[in-house]
Amino acid sequence: MHIGHIPLANRLFAAPMAGVTDRPFRQLCKRLGAGYAVSEMVTSRRDLWNSLKTSRRANHDGEVDPIAVQIAGTEPAMMAAAAAYNIDNGAQIIDINMGCPAKKVCTQWAGSALMQDEPLALEIIEAVVAVCAPRHVPVTLKMRTGWCQAERNAVSIARAAERAGVSMVTVHGRTREQGYGGQAEYATIAAVKAALRIPVVANGDIDTPEKARAVLATTGADAIMIGRAAQGRPWIFREIAHFLETGEHLPGPEVRQAKAWLLEHLDDHYGLYGEDAGVRSARKHIGWAVRPLPDGEIFRAHMNTLDTSQAQVSAVSDWFDQLADKLWRLPAWSQAAHPALTPEQA
Ligand SMILES: Cc1cc2nc3c(=O)[nH]c(=O)nc-3n(C[C@H](O)[C@H](O)[C@H](O)COP(=O)(O)O)c2cc1C
Repeated sequence: MHIGHIPLANRLFAAPMAGVTDRPFRQLCKRLGAGYAVSEMVTSRRDLWNSLKTSRRANHDGEVDPIAVQIAGTEPAMMAAAAAYNIDNGAQIIDINMGCPAKKVCTQWAGSALMQDEPLALEIIEAVVAVCAPRHVPVTLKMRTGWCQAERNAVSIARAAERAGVSMVTVHGRTREQGYGGQAEYATIAAVKAALRIPVVANGDIDTPEKARAVLATTGADAIMIGRAAQGRPWIFREIAHFLETGEHLPGPEVRQAKAWLLEHLDDHYGLYGEDAGVRSARKHIGWAVRPLPDGEIFRAHMNTLDTSQAQVSAVSDWFDQLADKLWRLPAWSQAAHPALTPEQA
């Protein structure tokens, strides 16, 4: 699988998630089987580029290639400038966000709101491609199925994007109106795939190896992208890779292995954010990791009372050691607990 001229390790992608898929998390996902990971959205507003938040989001130190940066905004010229700026800072692929339903993004007429204004969406795509193409940087597009149930125009936008020179399209199988509610549907993604020659990526509610296989089969997509199911469980990528290759489930990771991954992640995380911000933002990653495990909810509540990185690390370490006395491996995915595909989704 390629994006433009850039080869990828596999067709399992980590979704961009603001506040989650920072460089430490992307690196972890790539280590544990993701062939590709897109950075959190970076604003096209020049006045914010030097802010701490944006510069952290643009941090790619030591990240495995390719470096993909997602940009969001409303003005074609500003989006083009943002693409150029990010290329100068190491981006090898530029992803345009037309999928984010966040109010902050949509009230400024960006993210998925752009799907309501096809001419403006196309102007943005053309402006970004115009600065990226001469630098041999592929441009990709991430969108939803449409603005609302009655206006599912993903196919029309995707066709126009392909004609404008976009190298890959990702479709999250929900409308803007749905937010993250209801269920993702995959028929529109299949229609986009059938209409395009460039690679199409299916996204939305993929949380088990069975579901991954079913979505690939139903949509004919070239790749799948996983967001929420990787929170606290970044090894889902290698579990899916193994299942797609062999039809067999990989056993869950050993508890001591999961502990080592989490501690390495935390170390990297504190390194990027510093002590105070690092301790605060590490809580959600620790919470996601322990919540599904025996007594994880109790530990999560306790951990939220700790306010130094040292205290977090030693609490996590002790908690996993105690778990390891009771449990050798974390539970593997159960197909029964995570059903494959409902008729409404197909
Ligand atoms: C916390 C969070 C932050 C997100 N931030 C972004 C973002 O910055 N850009 C984007 O295109 N999508 C963003 N998304 C959407 C995801 O990329 C993905 O499309 C969505 O979560 C559906 O996939 P999933 O069901 O595998 O989670 C975000 C989702 C979540 C849950």
